[in-house]
Amino acid sequence: MSPERAPIGVIGTGYVGLVTAAGFAELGSDVWCVDIDAEKVERLRAGEVPIYEPGLEELLRKNAARMHFSTDLADALEHARLLFVAVGTPPTYSGDADLSAVNAVINAIPASDDHALVMKSTVPAGTGVAVKRMFEEQGKGGLAYVSCPEFLKEGSAVKDFLHPDRVVVGDVGDWAGDAVVDLYAPLLAPLVRTDIASAEMVKLASNAFLATKISFINEIANVCEETGADVVEVAQGMGLDERIGPKFLQAGIGFGGSCFPKDVDALKQLAGNSGYHFQLLTSVIEVNELQKRRVVGKLQKHLGTLVGKRIALFGLAFKPNTDDMREASSLVLSARLNADGALVTAYDPVAEEQARKVVSGISFADSPMQAAQDADAVVLVTEWPEFLELDWAQVADAMDGNLVIDGRNALDPDALQAAGFVYEGVGRGEHPQARHEV
Ligand code: UGA
Repeated sequence: MSPERAPIGVIGTGYVGLVTAAGFAELGSDVWCVDIDAEKVERLRAGEVPIYEPGLEELLRKNAARMHFSTDLADALEHARLLFVAVGTPPTYSGDADLSAVNAVINAIPASDDHALVMKSTVPAGTGVAVKRMFEEQGKGGLAYVSCPEFLKEGSAVKDFLHPDRVVVGDVGDWAGDAVVDLYAPLLAPLVRTDIASAEMVKLASNAFLATKISFINEIANVCEETGADVVEVAQGMGLDERIGPKFLQAGIGFGGSCFPKDVDALKQLAGNSGYHFQLLTSVIEVNELQKRRVVGKLQKHLGTLVGKRIALFGLAFKPNTDDMREASSLVLSARLNADGALVTAYDPVAEEQARKVVSGISFADSPMQAAQDADAVVLVTEWPEFLELDWAQVADAMDGNLVIDGRNALDPDALQAAGFVYEGVGRGEHPQARHEV
């Protein structure tokens, strides 16, 4: 066990809150987690982990003696000076971030000269300054405030917490900023210490940039389809330029999840509310929406009308290694296929329970082979390793048709064609087998 470090409070036990809590416990802090959901708190106390996140359960179990769960903010206030806020900031109808959960915390925290709120939730730039003003107005001006945005990815959140590319701390140069820097010190990550508004903007701009990179490569993929180029090779050629880099250049059926769609929209609205029209982000969002629908056109190209056609969806989660269905491309895709009269059967190794809550009109299978039974086409929606390791010759035997739409460019086109499939990826041209080996 690592040596003892300053205790902390964490408000909100979702993906970010739980991972932050477990991570700091691993580094040596006692952690007081607070959540308004009493049932969730009970489950956590009993050692249950309410979300699927590789490595999280082990980390929580390993540090169980340092983890405390409560519905009462007073428990965290009693034991810790730094209270990390990791509550949801979902989009509102206007696209702005809904700050009601953040505001509830701000209103609930009593006046104190010894405590600080450390904001992990993604909030619009300017929130920290507004919060400090609210503290003053409520006679709670002694409370400190730090912006400490989180950059972890679902599915690799534990690793991302323990090995961050950078730590960003936005504060007014007081004890709380120093204390947060100190907490992160054992991770030896590059530190950006800045003012509060800049830290908030680093987070929004980073997510918006990554989303832009994805929409960009998706548009290049669409042009590749018109010109016969292969976007996988194009991305490789681009990514070797150090200024561009190879990451987030995988073309596919669009980005989803609880962050990119929400944060891109929130930054666009934030700009709009301040009188600036962020034109580029409008296109990033539109390209992403169209990208989710392009699969339907590809199916129609090969199968004609989709009425009565059996389509198997391999994967539903917005990406592998998570059960998160928020803004998953499969939501739009399955709804479009339903509307066109197709008979959809889906299989996801982990996300079925979540998917059943939000997807209607489709059947769920217990295995990829069951989903593929008598199907006219298979669409790879989420690149779970299980699908990449499948015996595709067996899949071909189970199917009625022979069409595979690879929505993530994750399968081997040559192997699939050898197994008798008609293969179509995203931006891979008609004849990927004609590529030259170098
Ligand atoms: C994203 C960011 O990557 C994190 O840095 C950030 O902390 C997080 O949002 C957040 O704000 O909380 P996450 O949503 O977990 O993390 O997932 P990503 O791995 O970034 O993937 C997002 C979506 O983009 C997925 O649907 C994925 O399939 C898609 N994607 C990603 C592509 O289509 N192509 C790529 O090359 C990469």
